[in-house]
Amino acid sequence: MMAEQMISVSGVTKTFTNNGKPTNVLDQVSFDMKKGEIVTLLGKSGCGKSTLLHIVGGFLKAEEGTVYLDNQLVQRPTKKCVTLFQQHNLLPWRSVLKNVGLGLEGENIPEDEKKVRVMDAIKLVGLEQYLHQFPHELSGGMQQRVAIARAFAMQPDVILMDEPFAALDTFNRYHLQDELLRIQTQMKTTILIVTHDIDEAVYLSDRVLIMSSHPGRIFKELEIQQTKPRDRTQGDFLYYRKKILEQFELSGTNKAPEYMI
Ligand SMILES: Nc1ncnc2c1ncn2[C@@H]1O[C@H](COP(=O)(O)OP(=O)(O)OP(=O)(O)O)[C@@H](O)[C@H]1O
Ligand SMILES: [Mg+2]
Repeated sequence: MMAEQMISVSGVTKTFTNNGKPTNVLDQVSFDMKKGEIVTLLGKSGCGKSTLLHIVGGFLKAEEGTVYLDNQLVQRPTKKCVTLFQQHNLLPWRSVLKNVGLGLEGENIPEDEKKVRVMDAIKLVGLEQYLHQFPHELSGGMQQRVAIARAFAMQPDVILMDEPFAALDTFNRYHLQDELLRIQTQMKTTILIVTHDIDEAVYLSDRVLIMSSHPGRIFKELEIQQTKPRDRTQGDFLYYRKKILEQFELSGTNKAPEYMI
């Protein structure tokens, strides 16, 4: 593995057994990510995206293959790599301030530094006016921002996100995508995002890994060479969208409607 690589996934294979019948969900999946890169895993529902993310995060074991994070074999979740699950998992009885601080509790960091980190993360997502509100007093988009702030407060090398904006309306989604890019530029975090939204993949990624189903494989890698921030209406953007749609048609297993797979 090259020194500048942050994640190296090699030959990952995963089988689940349902009702005594084994199903090969992931087959020989391999990819690398450089430090500071944003990569998306794009694929149809059920193709194994979440399974792969959970293996990369150390939550699930593969039968075959290895995952290295910053040159260390992943065997369990670590603080260097934070996973943002699709359900944001905020604690309902805790305020914004206390939810964002959750990941730093029990860490061997001076209290003053913890406070600074938590406040910095809250400011990054623009929620400093809401420190003492509880999750039920916030909109869905604001709750999602709390979860993002919690991840960034931990200052991990890597953040894994499972369809982080799928539940949001278009305006909130676009806004949070911009915030994510702004924060990532500042923190240089390596981010792996699972999505089934082609538009989101083109907007955020340095590279898109397109997965096919049954079994899940990465069958195409596409580098998005356009500079960020990107214009969703501009020719280059539309070119990449079209190219991805064509790949889904080529994969044979997927008939992709316009934006969503
Ligand atoms: N714990 C499990 N036990 C048995 N089968 C599972 C388990 N987790 C996932 N699967 C199966 O593995 C396949 C891939 O699931 P996975 O959740 O990784 O898909 P996905 O690509 O994330 O889909 P979606 O876009 O709908 O979230 C599915 O067929 C699913 O039923
Ligand atoms: Mg999933």
